[in-house]
Amino acid sequence: MRIDRSKLSLDQPVSSLDPDRGTHEEAAEWLRYGPVVPVSLPDDVRAWAAVSAGAARTVLDAHPDLSSDPRHWGAYTRGEIPAGWPLLNLIVGESMLNADGADHRRLRRLVSHAFTPRRIEAFAPRIREITRELLDGLETVEPGAVTDLKEGFAYPLPLLIICELFGLTDPDQQRRLRDHFRTMLSVEVSGAERQEAAVGQREVLARLVADRRAAPLGDLTSALIEALDDEAGRLTQKELIDTLEIILLAGHETTVNSLTSTVLALLGRPDQLTALAAGELDWPSAVEAGLHWNGPLRNLFMRYALRDTELHGVTVRHGEPIVVGLAAANRELGGTVPAGFDVRDSGRYDRQLAFGAGPHYCLGAPLARLESEIGLSQLFGRFPAMRLAVPESELVPVVSTAINGVAALPVVLRPAPTEGRSSAAG
Ligand code: HEM
Repeated sequence: MRIDRSKLSLDQPVSSLDPDRGTHEEAAEWLRYGPVVPVSLPDDVRAWAAVSAGAARTVLDAHPDLSSDPRHWGAYTRGEIPAGWPLLNLIVGESMLNADGADHRRLRRLVSHAFTPRRIEAFAPRIREITRELLDGLETVEPGAVTDLKEGFAYPLPLLIICELFGLTDPDQQRRLRDHFRTMLSVEVSGAERQEAAVGQREVLARLVADRRAAPLGDLTSALIEALDDEAGRLTQKELIDTLEIILLAGHETTVNSLTSTVLALLGRPDQLTALAAGELDWPSAVEAGLHWNGPLRNLFMRYALRDTELHGVTVRHGEPIVVGLAAANRELGGTVPAGFDVRDSGRYDRQLAFGAGPHYCLGAPLARLESEIGLSQLFGRFPAMRLAVPESELVPVVSTAINGVAALPVVLRPAPTEGRSSAAG
């Protein structure tokens, strides 16, 4: 398809972000138009999508003409974006995610020391323990019974870990927070419900701050409260709540889906599972393969042009937004490998973009990698005969323009005794 890129503009989107469309289908279509394509988002909000790996990197690296701050988004500042717009909760907020330059560095520095590979490695024994306890719980499931592995394992593992790091120890509050986050991200509820969930979520976080102020636990929330109280004005109350929100949200919703997708990929590739169990392949490579071929974020929202900017052959006008098509960019990096996910091909994953790039590169990447590695290896170690309970074609994708994954992962953890007898007999 030949396209005159100089004629592309947001007045005429060539594609859309459709939550009902498959991630890979969307990525393949965009790459035919790429590297930067005008698209329509829900409610016909317009944006550019950077879809080739090169364009994604250009946007993510500290580009002098682009900002992460939604106050530079023309349509938003003109009041054209409806209050309950499905993606708004991901975009607004005074956290590091939406800050540039010195402000970004100030907000990130307050917590970055806790997420270095060394600090996270020191937390590994606790991650192993939490994983073991969850798997002990799954041991009680009857052989042959169907379990939703997303609900029973992939959700609680990263949630418990990130809540522990931030001193959110009350199980009721953890559940409330998770439910509010789910509603905030859902495209299947009304705008009013999303707004209500955003308020509820802030209430949980405000209570967490009050509890930790009354009884500091040496956790990261207590450390942030110290920064808030500090004379040097390192943090405002709003920034504190928004920082907690972004880390607690990013710290579990992503890893949940990357765990689920990687389990699914491995269940369909028993040869690779056997090689992993035998130590011929390693679990970190399995994690990277999953992130590359089925990363949990299909698109990243957003960057905004500070002035008219040339971007890989198109002109992005001042105030126009840019989405980064992470799934498309990773697909392009995969080249022509028809098989997709393959743990043996780990060299290929070095440059994958699931964690982004540049100054906003995922703060939690070392944690996500470690909890995925521990989670996957212990899960398959405990339930080596686990199998999907339904044909893969019956799995339902998450309905979202941002998240890539399946809504539930029904598995049989251990075969029923009768299954064992019939296969032994056969
Ligand atoms: C597989 C799991 C994960 C994936 C794929 C992922 C992906 C990403 C991506 C693509 C970005 C860049 C956003 C941008 O440039 O606008 C990002 C940023 C971020 N992630 Fe993650 N993430 C994961 C897990 C985590 C975890 C476990 C945490 C917990 C600490 C976390 C915390 C953050 C934070 C705080 C940022 C903002 C960084 C900044 O703006 O400087 N993420 N993540």
